[in-house]
Amino acid sequence: MRPEMDSNRAYWDEATEFHARGNVYGIEDFKGGSCRLHRVEVEEVGDVHGKSLLHLQCHFGIDTLSWARRGARVTGVDYSAKAIALGRALSAELGIAAEFVQSDIYELRDTLAGAARFDIVYASYGVLNWLPDLTGWAQVIAHFLRPGGFFYIAEAHPTARMFPLDQDLAKVGAFRPFISYFHDPAGIAWPPEPDYADESALHQVGPHEWQHSLADIVGALIGAGLVIEWLHEFPYCSWKVVAGCEIVERFSEAHAYYARPASEPQLPLMFSIRARKP
Ligand SMILES: C[S@@+](CC[C@H](N)C(=O)[O-])C[C@H]1O[C@@H](n2cnc3c(N)ncnc32)[C@H](O)[C@@H]1O
Repeated sequence: MRPEMDSNRAYWDEATEFHARGNVYGIEDFKGGSCRLHRVEVEEVGDVHGKSLLHLQCHFGIDTLSWARRGARVTGVDYSAKAIALGRALSAELGIAAEFVQSDIYELRDTLAGAARFDIVYASYGVLNWLPDLTGWAQVIAHFLRPGGFFYIAEAHPTARMFPLDQDLAKVGAFRPFISYFHDPAGIAWPPEPDYADESALHQVGPHEWQHSLADIVGALIGAGLVIEWLHEFPYCSWKVVAGCEIVERFSEAHAYYARPASEPQLPLMFSIRARKP
């Protein structure tokens, strides 16, 4: 594994500890029965009842378990040991059947060697920026789909990633692009920062992220043999992905869509793709 990915894994172990506290990530709401999914993925993935669903980069599985509550047979994968332990604990405590697997997704074909193929491979919200290589990512997706099954992703738009977050605004000096739209294999090393879900919690480890253009994402999926059914773009996202966002749709206390003020020209802040294995 690349050293940056090792330090990112440590970052996600830290983040899991922060997210396990109280209701910062909506755990208490979820225990009370609320669904952690957002409107777009629920509408676009459709009925999952009885379907097998592989959730890549599932964090501690609150979305994975939400799909299970909607009737899917779920497997969540994440490389953070702490995240997987918390997912298993939540599954046991709430009596929601789910399998959680600790693995780097790039090693998943070995970790889950011999596993059955899935009806749906799913990933969402804050996943691609942790991956240095989308060709390998898409090959893993294609490998685990059964013929006729589909991949779905809802994710921050790469255009949004070019703009500063609230905490970067003073440093950048204005709301303008300060990161290239295009992929740089070296990625970007950020200093340790407050956690995105709990700004009172400070990380010790700085994240290392990679930007991927929309063409890189679509091209990787096509290159792995999948057929793109559609690509959608939205002026909102499930977190404050750029500075100056406000809530435009609330699902629960810790769980909403955020957009730039309606009085301003709108940027694409999120996209979704459905791609099918022939
Ligand atoms: C922003 S979180 C995903 C959050 C999820 N959508 C949710 O709402 O809970 C990104 C996750 O990707 C995981 N991750 C990053 N790179 C990975 C890799 N190469 N293999 C497996 N998991 C990875 C991290 O551990 C983290 O849990």
